[in-house]
Amino acid sequence: MKTVRVDLHERGYDIRIGNGVEPGASLAGEPSRRALVVSDAVVDPLYGDRCERALRTLGHVVTRVVVPAGEETKSLDRLGELYAAAAAAGLDRRSVIVALGGGVVGDLAGFAAATYMRGVRFIQAPTSLLAMVDSSVGGKTGINLPQGKNLVGAFHQPIEVAIDLNTLATLPEVEYRAGLAEVVKYGVIWDATLFDRLEADADRLAARDAAALTAVVARCCEIKAEVVAMDERESGVRAILNFGHTLGHALETADGYGVWLHGEAVAVGMAYAAELSVRLRSFPEGTRDRLVDLLRRWGLPVSPAAKGTAPEWAALRRAMGLDKKSMDGQARFVLAEKMGSVVFGCAVEDGALADAYREWTRKASDQ
Ligand SMILES: NC(=O)c1ccc[n+]([C@@H]2O[C@H](COP(=O)([O-])OP(=O)(O)OC[C@H]3O[C@@H](n4cnc5c(N)ncnc54)[C@H](O)[C@@H]3O)[C@@H](O)[C@H]2O)c1
Ligand SMILES: [Zn+2]
Repeated sequence: MKTVRVDLHERGYDIRIGNGVEPGASLAGEPSRRALVVSDAVVDPLYGDRCERALRTLGHVVTRVVVPAGEETKSLDRLGELYAAAAAAGLDRRSVIVALGGGVVGDLAGFAAATYMRGVRFIQAPTSLLAMVDSSVGGKTGINLPQGKNLVGAFHQPIEVAIDLNTLATLPEVEYRAGLAEVVKYGVIWDATLFDRLEADADRLAARDAAALTAVVARCCEIKAEVVAMDERESGVRAILNFGHTLGHALETADGYGVWLHGEAVAVGMAYAAELSVRLRSFPEGTRDRLVDLLRRWGLPVSPAAKGTAPEWAALRRAMGLDKKSMDGQARFVLAEKMGSVVFGCAVEDGALADAYREWTRKASDQ
């Protein structure tokens, strides 16, 4: 087992990563607490009993709530149901909400925890690769509105992140690969050595080899923890975590939700950002090619046309203007200088964005 500390002073916490890791370590020594375990209809039957048992063994009183699986669950209606369940279970200020599942459950249950009784503690027990390396760490919680994704939310750090790598055994292949896209992101934005390791271990990681995964998931959590500790509320450097996400989010919006998995859209967005970085910064073409090759090796898309025809640039540009992270309608990009090093907040002229998009779409579809 590996432990990574998220150093946020009084809001600091441990991320424990390993096979068979169970939630609840942060409650050790406390008297009996009420715990509300939130999971989805896919994950609860697989891991709900184990989670409940672990908390009961520590002496806590456990209530389970199961929400439907899928992005639609990050809604006001489901949030209302969680509040009702919390009240029915008799949660008080000392109670804890446990999010057992992927990023959807983490964001929804985390936001419920951030707001119920003005905030109760919560534990992240992520079961998707994306949730393990990204959404469970850093304290961003929230739900979607019909008007847009993640429009309502709060920063609320968990008191513990418990990553049981065994749960990845049941994660569908496409979800697993989409999670690998976020893993690649950490190599590009922060750690060239991690990227080397991903290339060297690409086959073992594709096969979900336990030792390779432990090292890589732990390194990604370390990087996320470090970035979050520098900028908890995303006023600066935390923006680098959005590498590949400007175009990625626009693809998700333009093609309609449900067409792209988030990680797939991010894979295309990273390839595009790498192309932009070649054109506008000193990013070497050979390094862009290494990134594209690794994504392809894992069966991830790199072309905006991967789901049929590539969306028109105008539609993507419009979607970028609506993005929460744009400023005055101007899309902001994270661009790479070299492997492991990026700059954020880059305003790029519309013409340059459009040219790179057309050229990249052509290049990526040709190969
Ligand atoms: N808070 C943040 O910082 C942050 C960061 C990135 C993404 N997100 C959010 O995370 C969400 C995406 O997360 P996700 O990709 O985990 O999606 P998800 O929670 O929908 O999980 C994907 C699918 O895999 C299933 N699943 C999860 N774990 C499983 C397991 N071990 N075995 C079998 N099936 C399993 C789920 O039931 C679901 O059907 C989005 O809503 C996104 O906005 C949040
Ligand atoms: Zn992402």
